[in-house]
Formats: sequence, structure tokens, C-alpha cells
Amino acid sequence: MNHDVIIALDFPSAKDVYAFLDNFKDEKPFVKIGMELFYAEGPEIVRQIKARGHKIFLDLKLHDIPNTVKSAMKVLSRLDVDMTNLHAAGTIEMMKAAVEGLTREDGTRPLLLAVTQLTSTSEERMQKELLINETMPKTVQKYAQNAQEAGLDGVVCSPLEAALVKEACGADFATVTPGIRFADGDVGDQVRVMTPERARVGGSDYIVVGRPITRAEDPVAAYRRCMKEFVG
Ligand code: C5P
Repeated sequence: MNHDVIIALDFPSAKDVYAFLDNFKDEKPFVKIGMELFYAEGPEIVRQIKARGHKIFLDLKLHDIPNTVKSAMKVLSRLDVDMTNLHAAGTIEMMKAAVEGLTREDGTRPLLLAVTQLTSTSEERMQKELLINETMPKTVQKYAQNAQEAGLDGVVCSPLEAALVKEACGADFATVTPGIRFADGDVGDQVRVMTPERARVGGSDYIVVGRPITRAEDPVAAYRRCMKEFVG
């Protein structure tokens, strides 16, 4: 299994993104493009960042009827990203349709991950509002197993849940985890956080890191520190 640090490019415009990426001269970090940037700049931002030589996780979290998701994934497959995702709540049928849509004519496709339960959803709200009468760990494990049955490559989850996912789905099923902070860093609005080193021990394969790198005084040094602590 690969291990890598993915920088969350949570910037409002292409201009801000390029100014940030221009800091990196010697390395080409794996980056995550989310809804804010994609909706603001459109698919062109993906092509431009790809042309600069970065691997891309396109974090659009698709969730719709199977046919619509399949068609949308087909469009995304042409963008040549390395990783993308959807909500496991769309059912196994939707996830299978997504795999079909994302697979290119030559049989290749980006890694496809499922969001199990968002880390912003508490167990209490999940039970009271979504009427899921299970614990959070059991729900996350079941959604991960559904994703695996549908042919997906892994899940996006809390670093605190990575070990549970590996237990349910095996070591080869990828875990991508946000909510990462340096031991001496600012937590910000994240509640349950882990250091890069602990995330690695806990079973994370990829960590998604935003502000600890993007808001650092020296982003390149912060990225290198993250790589050193997580990848070694
Ligand atoms: O700045 P920070 O390191 O908190 O950024 C984390 C990134 O991961 C953001 O892009 C955020 O939207 C994303 N994310 C998250 N928690 C999730 C899913 C995605 O923090 N459950």
C-alpha cells in the first residue's frame, strides 16, 4: 500500500492556488481539489494543476441515483485525476454504477473511495435524525464493507476509524484520513485530530492535510515535516 500526504487546496480561486503551489520548487505534492475550488473554477483548474505535474484527489463526494452518478463519473474519468469519491449512503448499486462509469475504455480508472459517515456527523445525530440505530463504529464498518463489495478501493474516514476499517476490510483496502494536526499545532475547527505519526500507526494510508500546511509561515517546511512524520 502506498503512503502519501495529500494537501487540501482549500482556496477560493485559481490565483490563490497557483501562488501557493509556486512555493514548491523541488517536489510535486499530491493535492486535493474540493467543491469550493471546482465549482468556482470548473474542470480547467484540474487540467492546469495536472499539467503542473501534481497527482490529484478530486473530492466531490457524489451522491445521486445510480444512472446519474455513472454518467457523472464517466465525465470525471476524462479529467485524468488519480483519486475521486462518493457517498457510500448511495447504496452498493450506486457505487457499482460509479465504478462502471469511471472505468476508461482501456480498463484503467482513478482510485475510487467512499465517504462512510461524515466526521461532522455525531453518533447522536446519526441515530436521531438519520434513524440509523447502530453505533458509529459499526455503521462505518458496514459502509466500508459495502464499498468493498461494490469494487471500490477504500474509504475516507477519521484517523480514529482507520483501524476499524482495516479490521473489517483487510490491509489492502485504502484509508484516506483528514483531521491531521502537528503535536504542537493549532487544532482550528477540527475536533478529533491525530498527528501524522499516530495516523500512520493507526492504519491511515493517505492523510489529507489543509491548514497545518496551507496556513504555515513556511508551507514547504510544513509539508516536509508532514512527509517525514507520516512516510518516514
Ligand atoms: O485544514 P484541514 O487540515 O482541517 O483540512 C482538512 C480537509 O479535509 C478539508 O478540505 C476538509 O474539507 C476535508 N475533510 C475533513 N473531514 C472530513 C472530510 C473532509 O476535514 N470528514
